[in-house]
Amino acid sequence: MLTPRSIQVFDCTGKLIQKPINRVTWSVEAAEKGGYEHFMLKEIMEQPAAVKAALTPRLHDGEIRLDDFELSAEKLRSVNKIVITACGSAYYAGCSGRYAIEKLCRIPVQVELASELRYGEPMVDEHTLVLVLSQSGETADTIAALKECRERGATIIGIVNVVGSTIAKLADHTLYTWAGPEIAVATTKGYTTQLAVLYLFALYAAEKLGRLQKAEYSSLVRSLKMLPKLLQETIDMNYQIPALAGRYASQSLFFIGRNTDYAVALEGALKMKEISYLHAESYAAGELKHGTIALIDEGQPVIAVCCNEALCDKTLSNIVEVKARGAKVLALAFRGNRKIVSQADDVIYIPQIETIFSAALAVVPLQLLAYYAAKEKGCDIDKPKNLAKSVTVE
Ligand code: M6R
Repeated sequence: MLTPRSIQVFDCTGKLIQKPINRVTWSVEAAEKGGYEHFMLKEIMEQPAAVKAALTPRLHDGEIRLDDFELSAEKLRSVNKIVITACGSAYYAGCSGRYAIEKLCRIPVQVELASELRYGEPMVDEHTLVLVLSQSGETADTIAALKECRERGATIIGIVNVVGSTIAKLADHTLYTWAGPEIAVATTKGYTTQLAVLYLFALYAAEKLGRLQKAEYSSLVRSLKMLPKLLQETIDMNYQIPALAGRYASQSLFFIGRNTDYAVALEGALKMKEISYLHAESYAAGELKHGTIALIDEGQPVIAVCCNEALCDKTLSNIVEVKARGAKVLALAFRGNRKIVSQADDVIYIPQIETIFSAALAVVPLQLLAYYAAKEKGCDIDKPKNLAKSVTVE
């Protein structure tokens, strides 16, 4: 029996019994962390469920539907350019989304930092479709970029997490990412759900434009539907990351990759910088020899993202180049990739998925790597210095 002042416990015969008292030492805030030490770790672990929440309402018997609006084939055919604009991680999600949209829809995609676009006299008109990405929906530069594009007659789709936020209100249409509240300053589930919505959009538009055979479309939709399950597998198979973080988190790290893997490298380096305060550079792997390789010395940690199988041999050659100069290489590849084992010092595996969707899986070990590097350094993981969750000033 529970009263405001007491608890009494009875056995099945109705006899009062004494139970030992266990005190829960969690603060209210900690209780909200669901037993995790930090919101960031909780949010990393929530990604399978968050991505499922983003995908499920839009998948109907193998078809994609966009909430309460539709883009007709005629409207999409009138679009000669897609602009994706955002800041920070949302911008990097846009860099990944670009590959999926261009490959499937064959429409040129320009990814622009909102803080640059707003002052750049953007070449945007009524034939431009603008995708505005923002977890908070309140980022000042992103709002300004949206307004710039709207004034020039573009159609605006907001891809936003916070319901009723400014960007959701200003956009012509909004696709919510349904990630749930994200408390940690470093975005994780906010980013992966943005990817999920961009993949949905790419498939939806490609189908409307008649760019995909029915069988190919169905197979890609099935593959996308697997994402939540594969995200869970990615988390489960990467129990060794705390130890790897200890080995690779040094003063400065390089993240390299090509194409879809380059977009992941960008986000991986940002995660490392913002929560562990370690210097991290992300490079398109083919660019190393144009200058940056001069910085590779004995013991330099290089994180090589190598999940784009068509380009894996190319990235492997970059791994060989940096190893020859003394770098220690942690590679990220699809499970079953044997070539990588002979070149890299350590390998993190993720489950196999269509290359255009691979960023959503590949980013997870990099989020964990940054998390454990920051933890080892004793950083304030959920509230890194100098950063705010929502940047509402210019
Ligand atoms: O709320 P938004 O998605 O518009 O925020 C954009 C960036 O400020 C944000 O992604 C920032 O880069 C994060 N701290 C990255 O973890």
